[in-house]
Amino acid sequence: MKHLTDIKSLSRSDIQQLIESTQIISQSSTKDTKTWHHGHSAVALFFENSTRTLTSFQLACQRLGIDITALNISHSSTQKGETIKDTLLTLDAMQTDLFIVRHQENHIHDQIIDWVSHDVGVINAGDGTNQHPTQGLLDLFTIWQHKQSFENLKVSIIGDIKHSRVANSLIDGLEIMNTKEIQLYGPDSLIPIDKSKLKADSMSSALNNADVVVMLRIQKERLPKGTNLDLEQWHQQYGLNNKNLKQAKPNAIVMHPGPMNRGVEITNEVADGPQSVILEQVKNGVLMRQAVIHHMLTKALN
Ligand code: CP
Repeated sequence: MKHLTDIKSLSRSDIQQLIESTQIISQSSTKDTKTWHHGHSAVALFFENSTRTLTSFQLACQRLGIDITALNISHSSTQKGETIKDTLLTLDAMQTDLFIVRHQENHIHDQIIDWVSHDVGVINAGDGTNQHPTQGLLDLFTIWQHKQSFENLKVSIIGDIKHSRVANSLIDGLEIMNTKEIQLYGPDSLIPIDKSKLKADSMSSALNNADVVVMLRIQKERLPKGTNLDLEQWHQQYGLNNKNLKQAKPNAIVMHPGPMNRGVEITNEVADGPQSVILEQVKNGVLMRQAVIHHMLTKALN
């Protein structure tokens, strides 16, 4: 794996190997993993806000012995009009092994790969509404930790699917892993046409007998300007609470990629309840990103 721009570029066996590597890393001491990539360097460029992804990439690099620099975009020369291409060319000239980039433009990583030196790896940390592959992979790992396989699972993803790069990557990953049933639920206008075959008829049918329930926030920043949403109504129609969660299997897990809007798509009682694995997803984010970077730097997984 030279670059990671989307999940579809991975095979089932690639994902299985990444899950196995993540499991091995979870059982390894940082003292050991710190020796794996000593002498390598990485640059993180986040043109959109982040708490989890940026910090977990920084920790993942540090735990692999990689020097990582995160450019503060709001203090960078992009604010003086420098283009993203010139920014990448400038940083590439400083010689690094990896670029980790989040940007609002869909598919921008295909251009970034063309701009940087041929031996430098590029990781997509989220592009517009398109893909968030490391989030999809950490979600798959979290499901695997709890369920050990995908073939018998019903996974329901609920909320603003249309603007969610997390949903795109997770759906692609679940399909690659032969998940038995994937259901999507949300307002008709927020279910993309190409995914309408996965749409559930109601919240009840999405939740009924689900093994995994993934809740998504409304991506307000990607809705047309001036859109007025009634958050209380959203909560009534698309929110997860202890009462409707009972329709899922008793051992169902509840996931959310974060950031959560508590009281809108998920209540406090569910987010902090016994079926929630939301903080496990965060923990697994560091481990899975270590595995991805390790495979990229060793040129494993093709
Ligand atoms: N899940 C996720 O991408 O979170 P951040 O926006 O905080 O990185």
